[in-house]
Amino acid sequence: MSPSPDVLCRELQATVGPTHVLVDPDMRAGYETDWTGRFHGASRLVVRPGTTHEVAAVVRICAAHNAAIVTQGGNTGLVGGGVPRNHEVIVSTARLTRCDAVDTAASQVTVGSGVTLAAARNHARAVALDLAIDFASRDSATIGGAVATNAGGSRVIRFGTMRAQVAGIEAVLANGEIIGSLSGLPKETIGLHLPSLLCGSEGTLAIITAVRLKLVPWYRHTATALVGLPSLAAALDLLPALRRELAQLDSIELLMPSAMSLVCEHLQRTCPIPVDAGAYLLIECAGNSDQHDELMRVLALHAPTNATAVATDETARGRLLELRDNVTTAINHRGVPLKLDVALPLGVLSQTTADIEALINRLAPKSTLINFGHLAEGNLHLNTLNAGSADATITDQVLQMVIARGGAISAEHGIGIAKTHWLVAQRGAAEVDALRSLKASLDPHKMLNPGVLLPEA
Ligand code: LAC
Ligand code: ZN
Repeated sequence: MSPSPDVLCRELQATVGPTHVLVDPDMRAGYETDWTGRFHGASRLVVRPGTTHEVAAVVRICAAHNAAIVTQGGNTGLVGGGVPRNHEVIVSTARLTRCDAVDTAASQVTVGSGVTLAAARNHARAVALDLAIDFASRDSATIGGAVATNAGGSRVIRFGTMRAQVAGIEAVLANGEIIGSLSGLPKETIGLHLPSLLCGSEGTLAIITAVRLKLVPWYRHTATALVGLPSLAAALDLLPALRRELAQLDSIELLMPSAMSLVCEHLQRTCPIPVDAGAYLLIECAGNSDQHDELMRVLALHAPTNATAVATDETARGRLLELRDNVTTAINHRGVPLKLDVALPLGVLSQTTADIEALINRLAPKSTLINFGHLAEGNLHLNTLNAGSADATITDQVLQMVIARGGAISAEHGIGIAKTHWLVAQRGAAEVDALRSLKASLDPHKMLNPGVLLPEA
């Protein structure tokens, strides 16, 4: 006989304190719908443990009551992996906010999984170091969530994805055991690398409670250029020179005209460069000395006829960067989008983008496609508004096309519940079976984020 929810609730209250167990529907509501409004489900309750040991106790209690868990960080996920589906218990990492002293000799810091990207960044900057990962939801997105989804963002060209920033992890397994290491030794070759296993596991293997992060120098001189190119193909043609000649290249963000016009309208601004470009790039160089001349030299050499706006002071840079940072908000303002985060090999990116545009136009003639992303990784954020009943067909055909052309059905947002259906086509049955075995051995009772990442057998 399964125990009544009240017993579970009372045991959790006794563990974390009554104020950190939310059962009232109004109190739970903010945790039950994702940021875009697309994914929603009711939870049994929300519990907010304050320490790793409390997380372990919460997991043991949930296990004893057969209550499945959805772990949630900043609730900025875009594939439905962080909101409940079936009356799960939401374990919020919001109170796991330890911020240890930065180890400047190792250039590392240990932070709780609930620390936001912005807070971790500010903590690092206080000692002239910086976080290598940055993206628009930095004020809400958490370190734990970024690790669990292997988040990317704008600086991947220089520093890699979140996976490359992790020097150690502490986590709680489905049986309530605390595992991992936060020593951060760069050379530690003693078997399988647990952090690598948990990066991208989307809450299905363990609850990440703390992360040992590698930090990078905080570069005080950044030059930001907005460049209008005639086409996506022309933007791609610029890539080899940017990579080769800009030693301090930090990011190359892409806005297709649909994204530029939408964000300008949203911010009630006019585009800072007076062209009807076919693609816009926001290129940044960051270093310990002024970057303006070097960036301008390379652009003058390789993109001489293109309209360009450059900024080096914080205010002017902010005016350029807000165009990129606000695209997602501008889209949400228009409605609930169908979001497809994909990556394509650079050699087929331009043609495939054109093919996807044509496909969506054919499947949903009244829809609007807003396309932007991260150029160097071939990472497109395809957002379709007003696709109506064509959502499912668009998703299927776009993802099949991406797989057929050697791309990835998720570049940085994860699989969540949105893309499980295409996992076998992407990775092959043998690999998905191997992932299933791993999941079954670590979480035999399907306690952790059931339904996410792995397709139903
Ligand atoms: C971005 C998020 C949506 O690049 O990944 O803005
Ligand atoms: Zn992105």
